[in-house]
Amino acid sequence: MSRFALLALSLALLPAAAHADGDAALGRTLFSRCAACHAVTAQNKVGPGLAGVFGRKAASVDGFRYSKALSATDIVWDDATLERFLAGPAKMVPGTSMAVSVPKPDDRTNLIAYLKTLGAPATP
Ligand code: HEC
Repeated sequence: MSRFALLALSLALLPAAAHADGDAALGRTLFSRCAACHAVTAQNKVGPGLAGVFGRKAASVDGFRYSKALSATDIVWDDATLERFLAGPAKMVPGTSMAVSVPKPDDRTNLIAYLKTLGAPATP
């Protein structure tokens, strides 16, 4: 392959690579759909606080009354599990009390990128 063809190819692949990583800034904007129920701190509202959610076990925030359905799973929140959950919470976890889904794949990717930026809850 010529050098030019290689360059053209890598340029063509760039947007795809950027997509796989997600855009946390866009995700932050999309989080307005979640903020009614979720704080990005340790504070529990209608939903559990989402600080540090990436990498933690599902239904593990102290003091939040999770559904029996979610508590009974052994899900750990990572790219793949968040992707499935946000696409259809009740499809992945029948009986969950989280009723909101995110139908667009791009929106899910960007939201997950944003969730990754939420650090562990500050210890008081
Ligand atoms: C109408 C309220 C509501 C909205 C809006 C909402 N959620 Fe939830 N969410 C919940 C509830 C309630 C739970 C707990 C589910 C359970 O116990 O089964 C939950 C659970 C979760 C969990 C699992 C947390 C854990 O500690 O295991 C994640 C991740 C999550 N929501 C992400 C989101 C995202 C991202 C959005 C925005 C697209 C969103 N939620 C919008 C109510 C909501």
